[in-house]
Amino acid sequence: MTPMRVLSVASEIFPIIKTGGLADVAGALPLALKAKGIEICSLIPGYPEVLRVLERAEEQPGPVSLFGGDARLLRGRCGEHELFVLDAPHFFARGGNPYLSAEGVDWPDNGKRFAALARMAADIGFGAVPSFLPDIVHAHDWQAALTPAYLNYGHRPRPRTVITVHNLAFQGKFRRSLLEEIGLPLESFTVDGVEYYGDIGFLKAGLRFADMITTVSPTYAVEIQSDEGGMGLGGLLRSRSSDLRGILNGIDAAVWDPATDAHIQCRFDASTLERRAVNKAALQKQFGLKQNPDALLLGVISRLSDQKGLDLLLDCIPTIQMEGIQVVLLGAGDVELEHRFRAAADTHPETIGVVIGFDEILAHHIQAGADALVVPSRFEPCGLTQLCALRYGAVPIVSRVGGLEDTVADLSDDKQGVTGFKFGPVTMQNLAAALCSANAAYRDRRGWREMQLNGMATDVSWDSRASQYSDLYREVLGLPA
Ligand code: ADP
Ligand code: GLC
Repeated sequence: MTPMRVLSVASEIFPIIKTGGLADVAGALPLALKAKGIEICSLIPGYPEVLRVLERAEEQPGPVSLFGGDARLLRGRCGEHELFVLDAPHFFARGGNPYLSAEGVDWPDNGKRFAALARMAADIGFGAVPSFLPDIVHAHDWQAALTPAYLNYGHRPRPRTVITVHNLAFQGKFRRSLLEEIGLPLESFTVDGVEYYGDIGFLKAGLRFADMITTVSPTYAVEIQSDEGGMGLGGLLRSRSSDLRGILNGIDAAVWDPATDAHIQCRFDASTLERRAVNKAALQKQFGLKQNPDALLLGVISRLSDQKGLDLLLDCIPTIQMEGIQVVLLGAGDVELEHRFRAAADTHPETIGVVIGFDEILAHHIQAGADALVVPSRFEPCGLTQLCALRYGAVPIVSRVGGLEDTVADLSDDKQGVTGFKFGPVTMQNLAAALCSANAAYRDRRGWREMQLNGMATDVSWDSRASQYSDLYREVLGLPA
């Protein structure tokens, strides 16, 4: 049997370039699928960070001109990752954040940049690389979402397509006048095509034309079909309900393994949980907090944006102080939130520690040393930090939304084995109550340990989730299960 051949298309990929969970998934899922015998290659933009690490790069024949500049397609690898790289200097030669300038604003040509990525993906789909003609093109998020549209308007035999929605809040909406510049035909600008409230909707187009739609948790798959959760796309998603699946994300079990983690001070596993105390003390020291082994130490690792609900955590500071709880936060994003967290740490230096920035290693320290990890999101398609927390014995305290609902089990769940605390609706009062419950539970060290062990025994790996994707690919191709 010849293996299924899949082209994965994404704008970021761990460990090369990452702004959030999309990169983690675009990095780990192909490796998990490869382990299942699928031939899979990822197409990513040729940012400087990518070109720097690309090994054994081979230029594919036929230079291409893409929307106002010369480009070439490279094929190579980075470690285990098989890559196609779109080297289009006029779009991707800028380092740093893939979407924003140094001033933190969207690059004005983002529409053309990511249309170029999708155009290249569609060309590979049509056979631009004869040795890699994919059966399936799998596009991730709005940045890759025009791929199914280009394939559709090619009006010739094409591979099957899957789109995964990682976050409906980012939709890629661009002015109508871009249509000709990005090579979409006039016929595409209809309500049944790429048109979206008078503009071009990249994600809308992907949801309209992909053969199958997935999102990253079963609960989010339901939420996005409502008017509120659908953020303007609820109607379209409802109309495609039978082609929409929620498949939970996993985490890379090799990157996130407390027994082998080279970043943390003291490695541990379920049989040596007491060693976490060393990591907790180190974390308190690193953040300049009072060395108190008995205080419940909460960790936060997050983008700072309205989605993540961390303003509610700021509002809970009086409760946190009264309860004798400590907090360490690693985050970056919204300038006002950054400012407010810094100010909170200045006011309460013994109990609140804040690092503003993006720091992969510190994220490991927090998972290994915090007693609990707080994720009070207003919406959360899946969420990965709570999965890492489960594996590291940091008890998750999460809001009852999206993937958080699906991956953490609390007392109200009809399941064996409580792994954390959930609260909802997402308000400051409910978060404060959840923090108080966790603090009370922490006093019962045996009960707490049991929760940690339940979490560590939870399967958060990609292995079983990758099987769901490979089953889905077979379904899309009309192959027997
Ligand atoms: P989202 O993709 O919405 O940001 P996820 O929970 O799915 O949320 O994924 C976030 C990923 O980014 C996780 O791997 C998390 O550890 C990482 N992360 C988020 N913020 C930071 C930060 N400030 N420093 C280091 N890693 C971070
Ligand atoms: C998005 C979502 C997050 C999800 C991640 C990976 O960034 O906000 O919930 O885990 O994508 O799918």
